[in-house]
Amino acid sequence: MIRPAELIERKRDGHELGGEEIAELILAYARGDVPDYQLAAFCMAVYFRGLSSAETFALTDAMVRSGATIDVGAALGRRVVDKHSTGGVGDKTSIAVGPIVAACGVPFGKMSGRGLGHTGGTLDKLESIPGFRVELPTDAFLAQVRDIGIAIVGQTADLVPADKKLYALRDVTATVDNVSLIAASIMSKKLAAGADAIVLDVKVGDGAFMKTLEDAEVLGEAMLALGQRAGRDVVCLLTDMDQPLGAAVGNALEIREAVATLRGEGPPDFQELVLHAVAHLLALSDLGVDLDEGRRRAETAVQDGSALAVYERWIRAQGGDPAEAALLSAPVVLEVLAPRGGYVVRLAALPVGIAAVRLGAGRRTKEDPIDHAVGVVCRRKRGDAVVEGEPLAEIHARDDDAAAAAAEAVLAAFELADEPSRARPIVLQTLA
Ligand code: URA
Repeated sequence: MIRPAELIERKRDGHELGGEEIAELILAYARGDVPDYQLAAFCMAVYFRGLSSAETFALTDAMVRSGATIDVGAALGRRVVDKHSTGGVGDKTSIAVGPIVAACGVPFGKMSGRGLGHTGGTLDKLESIPGFRVELPTDAFLAQVRDIGIAIVGQTADLVPADKKLYALRDVTATVDNVSLIAASIMSKKLAAGADAIVLDVKVGDGAFMKTLEDAEVLGEAMLALGQRAGRDVVCLLTDMDQPLGAAVGNALEIREAVATLRGEGPPDFQELVLHAVAHLLALSDLGVDLDEGRRRAETAVQDGSALAVYERWIRAQGGDPAEAALLSAPVVLEVLAPRGGYVVRLAALPVGIAAVRLGAGRRTKEDPIDHAVGVVCRRKRGDAVVEGEPLAEIHARDDDAAAAAAEAVLAAFELADEPSRARPIVLQTLA
């Protein structure tokens, strides 16, 4: 039996640990045989000393083995694809990507999470659809993916229990932002959920975990290596989060935008990211198509209405009402007007995300309820021209005071200048 204090000491002193040692430590922690204070010290040692790629793989593998796993591919007799985003502001990508992938004939079964800090969560967004259920037993989840082609649900309690404990511990011990720990946390959940091929979307910018392209690349490479070592096909997109994604930030507002995107009427950056991600997912699927053909099929599914039809079937299958009129609207809508004319050269994502949380679109504590109707719609984005007095954004709020406070914060997130800044694409880099 390992002695946790000895492993902590060796990691503290910068030594590499054996895979079996890491596995024993993590599995013992998941069983409750190693206390939080020893794992907290271990995480802090990892934070300062890092983990080698062999150690990171051992950690990920032990986390997967701490609970149940699902073999979706075997259950469906198909190669199954999945996607994951590291989280940002206005990121409703899965809600548009899933129906397009399914409309192209590729099963899309995904377990999603809730909002964390200023970043929204797919489950919270879906729950703004009246009646929508995010909790399905595994057999119902699989049956829905087989019958409708798509299901998005919450992670079941028995999937990677080690991550649930470890993540909560890291959250309160200042050990979240370590590349190996983030990579193991994300990839353990993806591997346990059983997809054969995974498209990872690592967000880069002020609204993301990773603030620089260099850091995002390190995280992307680490996750790619973990996936490949586990025998999965992985592609990692590094995408811009230096401004909110699309226009809408806030739950029901984002559902409306995802639906508009399924009709081909989404904001250009969001529409592009969605089609790009779908093309990669189709190219990794069992359709036997390349990236260009994947892109063509994605565009066709949007143009011919089949993606929207799948969306409606999917929402009904999970108990929801897909009509846009069923979504809640906020009682107060306040426009944020441009104080001068010019070009938007900056629209910081983080203050917009925080403003949306303060309006009630996100949680400040785990127990907080969500106000699904409120949020921010960015009417101008980086590179757009604006005339003095035209709207830069709209605030959707519960009352006038909340709207005024958010309007001030959102206005401060904009920087206007006489000349446009250099354009920056939504997809910054692709790692494969
Ligand atoms: N998301 C996760 O699931 N885990 C992390 O550690 C960070 C982001």
